[in-house]
Amino acid sequence: MTRTVYTTATTLDGFIATDDHDLGWLLSRRLDDDSPWSHDRFMAGVGAIVMGRSTFDWVERHRAASGDAWFYTQPSWVMTSRDLPVPEGADVRAAAGDVGDVHPALVEAAGGKDVWVVGGGGLAAAFAEAGLLDEVVVSIAPVAIGSGMPLLPGTVELELLDSGVNGEFLCARYGVVRSPA
Ligand SMILES: NC(=O)c1ccc[n+]([C@@H]2O[C@H](COP(=O)([O-])OP(=O)(O)OC[C@H]3O[C@@H](n4cnc5c(N)ncnc54)[C@H](OP(=O)(O)O)[C@@H]3O)[C@@H](O)[C@H]2O)c1
Repeated sequence: MTRTVYTTATTLDGFIATDDHDLGWLLSRRLDDDSPWSHDRFMAGVGAIVMGRSTFDWVERHRAASGDAWFYTQPSWVMTSRDLPVPEGADVRAAAGDVGDVHPALVEAAGGKDVWVVGGGGLAAAFAEAGLLDEVVVSIAPVAIGSGMPLLPGTVELELLDSGVNGEFLCARYGVVRSPA
């Protein structure tokens, strides 16, 4: 069954990027490709992707600098209120407004695999607030940066489902606890 999962790396003090959208604190760190928490293993279970505009812009800046093709083969949605320059050959589309209106298309595109909410934190919080987020998976880098873009700016009750290590990162998988209807 398709789960909607917010999976991200975070600093120990709960930021997913610096104030100016830098990820140096993350990209400089050691990962273990053989870890059960590896990105490749996670991506194998992902059928559709949704991200906010700042995250898309970061991916595009990174991609342009490296000369790579669009990173993802899964159908991807970018939440934005502005025109979206879709990378050539990429299965990417823009959406805006209520995440509840976009979610059915994400689930359908996922074809039984998971929907990955890439970030940012506000977008993940919107899915949680709409009762559409099933899990939060964090890889915690051994660093605090004092300020930045928040991990999950909302009130979300979680239960720990699993934990482990990937290189320098402490990893945890949480289920979103929903109030009984
Ligand atoms: N550590 C990690 O693993 C990780 C993971 C993901 C992201 N990141 C980084 O974290 C930062 C996140 O930036 P952010 O907090 O600004 O979040 P974001 O979700 O990437 O971008 C926020 C923007 O997305 C658009 N948006 C979001 N929801 C929308 C909606 N429902 N309807 C229409 N537009 C919507 C709005 O932009 P417009 O209205 O201007 O279009 C909004 O200002 C980025 O630097 C990203 O690279 C890090």
